[in-house]
Amino acid sequence: MNEQQRKEQAQIKQAASLDRKSDQDKPLSEKTTEDFAHYFQTTYEPPDIRKARKRGRDKVEVHYDFTIPEKVQQIGKGKKFLIRTYGCQMNEHDTEVMAGILTEMGYETTTETEEADVILLNTCAIRENAENKVFGEIGHLKPLKLEKPDLIIGVCGCMSQQESVVNKILQKHQQVDLIFGTHNIHRLPNLIEEAMFSKAQVVEVWSKEGDIIENLPKVRHGKIKAWVNIMYGCDKFCTYCIVPMTRGKERSRRPEDIIQEVRHLAAQGYQEVTLLGQNVNAYGKDFEDIDYQFGDLLDDVRKIDIPRVRFTTSHPRDFDDHLIEVLAKGGNLLDHIHLPVQSGSSHILRKMNRKYTRESYLELVDKIKAAIPNVTLTTDIIVGFPNETEEQFEETMTLMEEVGFESAYTFIYSPREGTPAAAQKDEIPEEVKKERLHRLNALVNKQSRESMKSYEGKVVKVLVEGESKKDDTVLAGYTEKNKVVNFKGPKSIIGTIVDVKVTEAKTWSLDGELMKTTVEVNE
Ligand code: 5AD
Ligand code: SF4
Repeated sequence: MNEQQRKEQAQIKQAASLDRKSDQDKPLSEKTTEDFAHYFQTTYEPPDIRKARKRGRDKVEVHYDFTIPEKVQQIGKGKKFLIRTYGCQMNEHDTEVMAGILTEMGYETTTETEEADVILLNTCAIRENAENKVFGEIGHLKPLKLEKPDLIIGVCGCMSQQESVVNKILQKHQQVDLIFGTHNIHRLPNLIEEAMFSKAQVVEVWSKEGDIIENLPKVRHGKIKAWVNIMYGCDKFCTYCIVPMTRGKERSRRPEDIIQEVRHLAAQGYQEVTLLGQNVNAYGKDFEDIDYQFGDLLDDVRKIDIPRVRFTTSHPRDFDDHLIEVLAKGGNLLDHIHLPVQSGSSHILRKMNRKYTRESYLELVDKIKAAIPNVTLTTDIIVGFPNETEEQFEETMTLMEEVGFESAYTFIYSPREGTPAAAQKDEIPEEVKKERLHRLNALVNKQSRESMKSYEGKVVKVLVEGESKKDDTVLAGYTEKNKVVNFKGPKSIIGTIVDVKVTEAKTWSLDGELMKTTVEVNE
C-alpha cells in the first residue's frame, strides 16, 4: 500500500518552563551524552542487539492492580489533552490506553492544539521519515510552549526507547517536558504529576522488558471496531527492524484475559475486533504452564458472539497447520490474511533473518489457499535492502504476481541505528531504490485495481462505520476483506453490517448501492 491508498482508507470520519531548566548546572546545549547518563543508569539501556538476543526468559509478571493514585485523580480537572499518534495499530491502541488514564485523571480530550494543557506525541521509530515527522512537530510546538509555559509536552512511543533520540531531545528541544517509553505507559499519572512540578525534564524509559499490566483504562476510538492486544514485543530480530529493541521481548497476555476482553466488547455491541501483536503467530510460545498457541486462541475467540475477528501482524515462519485449520472454520474469522513477505528473494530473506525462503513462503501460500479457497492475501515489502541486486528485486516483482496479493504496503529500506543491517555498507544508490519502489507500486496498483474490478456487480457485506469524509450524504464502511465501500444510505445503519451491491471499482475503494432488504431488516 502506498501513500495514496492510505489517504483513501482514511476518508471515513469517524517557555517560562524553558526557564525552569536554567537552574541546571550548564546550558543544555553544552551538555554531552555523559551528562545525561544519570537518566539511564538505573532505568535504561540503549538498544543492543547482542544483549537483546540473549534476553532471558525471565518470568513475565501479570499485574491486575493498576490504580490512579488518589492525589492525582483530579489533577486534570478543567484541563485538556491531545495525543498525536504516529505509526502502527499498536501505537493507536496505546493511545487509547493513555487517553483512558488521562480521562480518569480528570482531563478532557481536545483536537485543538492551542487548547491543550497536555500534548503527547506517541511516536514511531520504524523508518527515518517517521522520526523526522516527529522532530518537525516538536519544533512546531515550541512557540506554543513559550506562550503557555504550563503546557506539558510529552514524547512517548517507540522513538523514546532510543537513547540517541532521547539525547537529541534533551539537548536540542527543551520545550519537551516529559519523555517516557513503551513500557512506562501505566506510570503516566505519576509522570504527569512529576512533569507539572519538576524543574527538569522528566525522563522514564525502562529497559525492563515489560511485565503485562492488565485492567488499564481505555477510551476506545469509536463503538464499532476495537483493538485487542494479545501479545507484546518481538523476538524475531529481522536485521532491518528496530521493534525488538523498542518493544521488548515477546510476552503473551493470558488467554482468559483476552477472551474476557473480547466478550466484554461483544456485549457492548462492538462488531469487529482486531487481535494485535507484532507477531501474533508467536502467541503463547512464552507460556510455561500451558500449551496454548495462536490457533487455540482463535478457536476460542471464534466461539464468541462478535461478527468479525481480524488479526495483525503475522509472521510466515510461525504460521502453523493448526492455525490454518482453525482459520478454515470461517465464521467470524475473516478470510483476509496480512502476511508480510518483505522480499521475494531467498538470498535477501536470509540476510533479513526472516527464516523462510521464497519457496517455503509460496508453499505456505498454497496451503492457505487450499484450506481457505476464498482467501485474500496482502503483504508488506521492503525494497532496497542493502546491496539488493536488480535480479533480487525482480524476484520480489514476480512473487507479487505469483501470490496475487490484493494490496501491499511498500517501503524503501531505512537504516535504523542499532540494527545489524544498518552496519552494512550499501552500494545501491537511493535513486535506484526509488525507481524500484515506483515500479513495484505500479504493479501493486495494477493488482489492486484488478482485484477491485472483480467485485463489480457482486454483493458484499459492509460494516458501516460512518459518513464519508468527502461527502456526508455518502456512508462508508469496510468489507470482510477490508475494502472501503462508499454508498448512499440512512445514517441509522451506521454500526451495522449490511449488504451492498458494488457498482463501480476505483483503485483503492468501491462504490456501491445498498441492497433494500438489508435496510428493512435493520430498520
Ligand atoms: N525500513 C523499511 N521498512 C521497514 N519495516 C520495518 N523496518 C523497516 C526498515 N528499517 C517495514 C516492514 C514491516 C513494516 C511494519 O515496516 O515491511 O513489515
Ligand atoms: Fe520487526 Fe516484524 Fe521482524 Fe519483529 S517480525 S523484527 S516486528 S519485522
